[in-house]
Amino acid sequence: MKRIAVFASGNGSNFEALVTSNLKAEIGLLVCDNPDAYVIERASKAGIESFVFIPKTFSSKEAFEESIIERLRDASIDFIVLAGYMRLIGPTLLQAFEGRIVNIHPSLLPAFPGKDAVGQALQAGVKETGVTIHYVDAGMDTGPIIARQSIEIYENETRESLEGRIHHIEHRFYPETINQLLTARGVKS
Ligand code: GRF
Repeated sequence: MKRIAVFASGNGSNFEALVTSNLKAEIGLLVCDNPDAYVIERASKAGIESFVFIPKTFSSKEAFEESIIERLRDASIDFIVLAGYMRLIGPTLLQAFEGRIVNIHPSLLPAFPGKDAVGQALQAGVKETGVTIHYVDAGMDTGPIIARQSIEIYENETRESLEGRIHHIEHRFYPETINQLLTARGVKS
């Protein structure tokens, strides 16, 4: 079985969905850049090892990404899944895991990249938004798209209702899509 590392910075509902889904891979490590993140507790309850680091204690992004790579290699990780990891991946990590890093984003990319995609969609007054799963490159939510799922924005939609409906989709769509990647196309190791 392939081994996956999930990267997250906050709540970790997608992490939990991956843990409890029927994933055709083993989650071998949580990587987290925020010692206060609730996702760390979720990992500990699930018996999954965490690598928690504080970026500002390193001299550079290259330096902390080298530490991450060391932990990924120790844990024999084949594939990286970003789930609410609030940082751009730098060239060090991109090169080490080329073509083996995916992300989930709460909009129909290329629309509304970056922070607060749900707020951006509501602000823009569009009738439809969604969820995109894509490979990660050096840009902000710019990598090749793997799959997208759309969702209607209702007349009386609030931020909470839309966020809730998007999360609901994400929690099913991410494990499903990762399973397809792992089986249909295979994952380079
Ligand atoms: C999700 O909406 C995901 O699309 C985005 O960050 C959010 C993470 O939520 N990249 P959670 O921490 O998994 O609850």
